[in-house]
Amino acid sequence: MRKKIIAGNWKMNKDVEESAQLLEELKKQTLAPGVTAIVCPPYTSLTEAVRILKGSSIQLGAQDVSLQDDGAYTGEISIRMLKSAGCSYVIVGHSERRQYFKESDELINAKAKKVLANGLTPIVCVGETLQEREGGITEKIVTTQVKGVMAGIPAEDAAKVIIAYEPVWAIGTGKTASPAQAQEVHKLIRTLLTSLYSATVADEIVVQYGGSVKPDNAKELLSQLDIDGALVGGACLKADSFAAIVNAC
Ligand code: PGA
Repeated sequence: MRKKIIAGNWKMNKDVEESAQLLEELKKQTLAPGVTAIVCPPYTSLTEAVRILKGSSIQLGAQDVSLQDDGAYTGEISIRMLKSAGCSYVIVGHSERRQYFKESDELINAKAKKVLANGLTPIVCVGETLQEREGGITEKIVTTQVKGVMAGIPAEDAAKVIIAYEPVWAIGTGKTASPAQAQEVHKLIRTLLTSLYSATVADEIVVQYGGSVKPDNAKELLSQLDIDGALVGGACLKADSFAAIVNAC
Protein backbone atom coordinates (compact mmCIF):
# COMPACT_ATOMS: atom_id res chain seq x y z
CA MET A 1 0.00 0.00 0.00
CA ARG A 2 1.31 3.39 -0.99
CA LYS A 3 1.25 6.04 1.68
CA LYS A 4 -1.08 9.01 1.21
CA ILE A 5 0.83 12.28 1.12
CA ILE A 6 -0.79 15.71 1.27
CA ALA A 7 1.43 18.71 0.60
CA GLY A 8 0.41 22.32 0.97
CA ASN A 9 2.09 24.74 -1.41
CA TRP A 10 1.73 28.16 0.13
CA LYS A 11 3.19 29.82 -2.99
CA MET A 12 4.06 33.51 -2.45
CA ASN A 13 1.68 33.97 0.47
CA LYS A 14 2.16 34.72 4.18
CA ASP A 15 4.87 36.89 5.70
CA VAL A 16 6.74 35.61 8.75
CA GLU A 17 4.09 36.68 11.24
CA GLU A 18 1.20 35.35 9.15
CA SER A 19 3.08 32.10 8.62
CA ALA A 20 3.60 31.68 12.34
CA GLN A 21 -0.10 32.19 12.92
CA LEU A 22 -1.11 29.61 10.30
CA LEU A 23 1.44 27.10 11.59
CA GLU A 24 0.24 27.51 15.17
CA GLU A 25 -3.32 26.87 13.97
CA LEU A 26 -2.20 23.85 11.96
CA LYS A 27 -0.46 22.41 14.97
CA LYS A 28 -3.74 22.46 16.87
CA GLN A 29 -5.56 20.42 14.20
CA THR A 30 -6.09 16.72 14.63
CA LEU A 31 -4.53 15.04 11.60
CA ALA A 32 -5.20 11.46 10.59
CA PRO A 33 -2.23 9.28 11.53
CA GLY A 34 -0.81 7.36 8.61
CA VAL A 35 -1.11 10.32 6.26
CA THR A 36 2.01 12.38 5.63
CA ALA A 37 1.22 16.09 5.85
CA ILE A 38 3.76 18.52 4.43
CA VAL A 39 3.77 22.31 4.43
CA CYS A 40 5.79 24.30 1.89
CA PRO A 41 5.87 27.90 3.09
CA PRO A 42 7.96 30.63 1.45
CA TYR A 43 11.73 30.46 2.12
CA THR A 44 11.51 33.36 4.57
CA SER A 45 9.24 31.37 6.88
CA LEU A 46 11.15 28.07 6.90
CA THR A 47 13.10 28.58 10.11
CA GLU A 48 10.00 29.83 11.89
CA ALA A 49 8.18 26.72 10.62
CA VAL A 50 10.84 24.43 12.10
CA ARG A 51 10.56 26.20 15.44
CA ILE A 52 6.77 26.02 15.54
CA LEU A 53 6.40 22.50 14.14
CA LYS A 54 8.89 21.00 16.59
CA GLY A 55 7.29 17.90 18.06
CA SER A 56 4.56 17.86 15.40
CA SER A 57 4.25 15.20 12.70
CA ILE A 58 3.92 17.85 9.99
CA GLN A 59 6.86 17.78 7.59
CA LEU A 60 8.54 20.71 5.92
CA GLY A 61 9.17 21.35 2.25
CA ALA A 62 10.39 24.14 -0.02
CA GLN A 63 8.81 25.41 -3.22
CA ASP A 64 11.90 25.33 -5.44
CA VAL A 65 15.67 24.92 -5.32
CA SER A 66 18.65 26.20 -7.27
CA LEU A 67 20.58 23.90 -9.53
CA GLN A 68 23.79 25.48 -8.26
CA ASP A 69 25.54 24.39 -5.09
CA ASP A 70 26.79 27.79 -3.97
CA GLY A 71 28.43 30.96 -5.22
CA ALA A 72 27.51 34.01 -7.23
CA TYR A 73 23.86 33.27 -8.07
CA THR A 74 21.99 36.24 -6.65
CA GLY A 75 18.57 35.37 -5.33
CA GLU A 76 19.00 31.60 -5.51
CA ILE A 77 18.65 29.13 -2.62
CA SER A 78 20.75 25.97 -2.61
CA ILE A 79 19.79 22.46 -1.58
CA ARG A 80 22.30 22.61 1.28
CA MET A 81 20.54 25.72 2.60
CA LEU A 82 17.16 24.00 2.40
CA LYS A 83 18.50 20.94 4.15
CA SER A 84 20.02 22.98 6.96
CA ALA A 85 16.77 24.96 7.24
CA GLY A 86 14.98 21.69 8.03
CA CYS A 87 13.34 20.78 4.70
CA SER A 88 12.77 17.16 3.77
CA TYR A 89 10.81 17.81 0.56
CA VAL A 90 11.23 20.18 -2.39
CA ILE A 91 8.63 20.98 -5.04
CA VAL A 92 10.27 21.16 -8.45
CA GLY A 93 8.82 22.14 -11.79
CA HIS A 94 5.56 23.59 -10.55
CA SER A 95 3.53 24.84 -13.52
CA GLU A 96 4.01 28.42 -12.32
CA ARG A 97 7.79 27.90 -12.54
CA ARG A 98 7.34 26.40 -15.99
CA GLN A 99 5.10 29.27 -17.11
CA TYR A 100 6.68 32.36 -15.54
CA PHE A 101 10.30 31.26 -15.28
CA LYS A 102 10.45 29.12 -18.41
CA GLU A 103 11.59 26.00 -16.57
CA SER A 104 12.05 23.07 -18.93
CA ASP A 105 11.73 19.33 -18.30
CA GLU A 106 15.51 19.19 -18.61
CA LEU A 107 16.06 21.75 -15.85
CA ILE A 108 13.37 20.17 -13.66
CA ASN A 109 15.02 16.77 -14.14
CA ALA A 110 18.37 18.21 -13.05
CA LYS A 111 16.76 19.80 -9.99
CA ALA A 112 15.03 16.52 -9.07
CA LYS A 113 18.40 14.73 -9.28
CA LYS A 114 20.00 17.42 -7.11
CA VAL A 115 17.29 16.97 -4.47
CA LEU A 116 17.64 13.16 -4.51
CA ALA A 117 21.43 13.30 -4.36
CA ASN A 118 21.13 15.29 -1.16
CA GLY A 119 18.75 12.85 0.48
CA LEU A 120 15.60 14.96 0.20
CA THR A 121 12.40 14.05 -1.63
CA PRO A 122 11.43 15.91 -4.78
CA ILE A 123 7.77 16.55 -5.58
CA VAL A 124 7.95 16.78 -9.34
CA CYS A 125 5.06 18.47 -11.13
CA VAL A 126 3.62 17.66 -14.53
CA GLY A 127 0.37 18.58 -16.25
CA GLU A 128 -1.22 19.81 -19.45
CA THR A 129 -2.64 23.26 -20.21
CA LEU A 130 -6.26 23.87 -21.19
CA GLN A 131 -5.22 24.31 -24.80
CA GLU A 132 -3.40 20.99 -24.77
CA ARG A 133 -6.37 19.20 -23.18
CA GLU A 134 -8.78 20.68 -25.67
CA GLY A 135 -6.38 19.79 -28.46
CA GLY A 136 -6.56 16.14 -27.35
CA ILE A 137 -2.85 15.89 -26.56
CA THR A 138 -2.97 15.43 -22.77
CA GLU A 139 -1.50 11.93 -22.99
CA LYS A 140 1.31 13.06 -25.28
CA ILE A 141 2.19 16.07 -23.10
CA VAL A 142 2.12 14.19 -19.79
CA THR A 143 4.12 11.30 -21.27
CA THR A 144 6.80 13.68 -22.57
CA GLN A 145 6.96 15.51 -19.25
CA VAL A 146 7.17 12.36 -17.10
CA LYS A 147 9.87 10.87 -19.35
CA GLY A 148 11.72 14.17 -19.31
CA VAL A 149 11.65 14.78 -15.57
CA MET A 150 12.53 11.15 -14.73
CA ALA A 151 15.30 10.82 -17.35
CA GLY A 152 18.41 9.17 -15.95
CA ILE A 153 16.94 8.66 -12.49
CA PRO A 154 17.74 5.07 -11.53
CA ALA A 155 15.04 2.74 -10.23
CA GLU A 156 16.22 2.89 -6.61
CA ASP A 157 15.85 6.67 -6.65
CA ALA A 158 12.71 6.73 -8.79
CA ALA A 159 10.78 4.98 -6.05
CA LYS A 160 11.53 7.94 -3.76
CA VAL A 161 10.18 10.56 -6.15
CA ILE A 162 6.70 12.02 -5.66
CA ILE A 163 5.02 12.97 -8.91
CA ALA A 164 2.29 15.60 -8.79
CA TYR A 165 -0.12 15.55 -11.70
CA GLU A 166 -1.58 19.03 -11.89
CA PRO A 167 -3.64 19.93 -14.92
CA VAL A 168 -2.72 23.60 -15.40
CA TRP A 169 -6.33 24.51 -16.20
CA ALA A 170 -7.39 23.33 -12.76
CA ILE A 171 -4.83 25.31 -10.76
CA GLY A 172 -6.29 28.23 -8.87
CA THR A 173 -9.30 28.28 -11.18
CA GLY A 174 -11.82 26.41 -9.06
CA LYS A 175 -12.14 23.91 -11.93
CA THR A 176 -11.12 20.47 -10.73
CA ALA A 177 -10.54 17.53 -12.98
CA SER A 178 -13.34 15.09 -12.29
CA PRO A 179 -12.18 12.08 -10.25
CA ALA A 180 -12.50 9.97 -13.41
CA GLN A 181 -10.50 12.45 -15.52
CA ALA A 182 -7.79 12.60 -12.87
CA GLN A 183 -7.69 8.82 -12.42
CA GLU A 184 -7.33 8.35 -16.17
CA VAL A 185 -4.14 10.41 -16.25
CA HIS A 186 -2.83 8.91 -13.02
CA LYS A 187 -3.28 5.44 -14.51
CA LEU A 188 -1.48 6.58 -17.63
CA ILE A 189 1.42 7.81 -15.48
CA ARG A 190 1.52 4.52 -13.54
CA THR A 191 1.57 2.53 -16.77
CA LEU A 192 4.32 4.73 -18.15
CA LEU A 193 6.38 4.30 -14.97
CA THR A 194 5.93 0.53 -15.30
CA SER A 195 7.41 0.66 -18.79
CA LEU A 196 10.22 3.02 -17.72
CA TYR A 197 11.10 0.99 -14.61
CA SER A 198 9.08 -2.02 -13.48
CA ALA A 199 5.68 -2.78 -12.01
CA THR A 200 7.26 -2.95 -8.55
CA VAL A 201 8.83 0.50 -8.83
CA ALA A 202 5.73 2.01 -10.45
CA ASP A 203 3.69 0.60 -7.62
CA GLU A 204 5.84 2.37 -5.05
CA ILE A 205 5.82 5.83 -6.60
CA VAL A 206 3.39 8.26 -4.99
CA VAL A 207 1.42 10.21 -7.58
CA GLN A 208 -0.42 13.20 -6.17
CA TYR A 209 -3.22 15.13 -7.81
CA GLY A 210 -3.25 18.93 -7.71
CA GLY A 211 -5.58 21.62 -8.96
CA SER A 212 -8.35 23.19 -6.89
CA VAL A 213 -8.39 20.39 -4.34
CA LYS A 214 -10.77 21.47 -1.57
CA PRO A 215 -12.27 19.76 1.48
CA ASP A 216 -15.48 19.07 -0.45
CA ASN A 217 -13.87 17.30 -3.43
CA ALA A 218 -10.85 15.72 -1.72
CA LYS A 219 -12.49 12.51 -0.61
CA GLU A 220 -13.71 11.51 -4.05
CA LEU A 221 -10.41 12.37 -5.73
CA LEU A 222 -8.35 10.61 -3.08
CA SER A 223 -10.41 7.46 -3.28
CA GLN A 224 -9.31 6.85 -6.87
CA LEU A 225 -7.04 3.85 -7.28
CA ASP A 226 -3.96 5.69 -8.55
CA ILE A 227 -4.34 8.98 -6.67
CA ASP A 228 -2.02 8.81 -3.69
CA GLY A 229 -2.41 12.27 -2.26
CA ALA A 230 -2.73 15.89 -3.18
CA LEU A 231 -0.69 18.99 -3.80
CA VAL A 232 -2.87 21.75 -2.45
CA GLY A 233 -2.60 25.47 -3.19
CA GLY A 234 -5.39 27.82 -2.13
CA ALA A 235 -7.03 25.46 0.36
CA CYS A 236 -3.81 25.00 2.35
CA LEU A 237 -3.81 28.63 3.46
CA LYS A 238 -6.45 27.88 6.08
CA ALA A 239 -5.61 25.38 8.81
CA ASP A 240 -9.06 23.81 8.98
CA SER A 241 -9.38 23.23 5.24
CA PHE A 242 -5.85 21.79 4.96
CA ALA A 243 -6.61 19.48 7.89
CA ALA A 244 -9.91 18.47 6.29
CA ILE A 245 -8.07 17.44 3.12
CA VAL A 246 -5.50 15.45 5.12
CA ASN A 247 -8.34 13.76 6.98
CA ALA A 248 -10.22 12.99 3.76
CA CYS A 249 -7.57 10.37 2.95
P1 PGA B 1 -4.72 25.24 -6.18
O1 PGA B 1 -3.15 25.11 -6.50
O2 PGA B 1 -5.04 24.19 -5.17
O3 PGA B 1 -4.87 26.65 -5.65
O4 PGA B 1 -5.44 25.04 -7.45
C1 PGA B 1 -2.58 23.85 -6.66
C2 PGA B 1 -1.12 23.99 -6.96
O5 PGA B 1 -0.73 24.91 -7.69
O6 PGA B 1 -0.31 23.18 -6.50
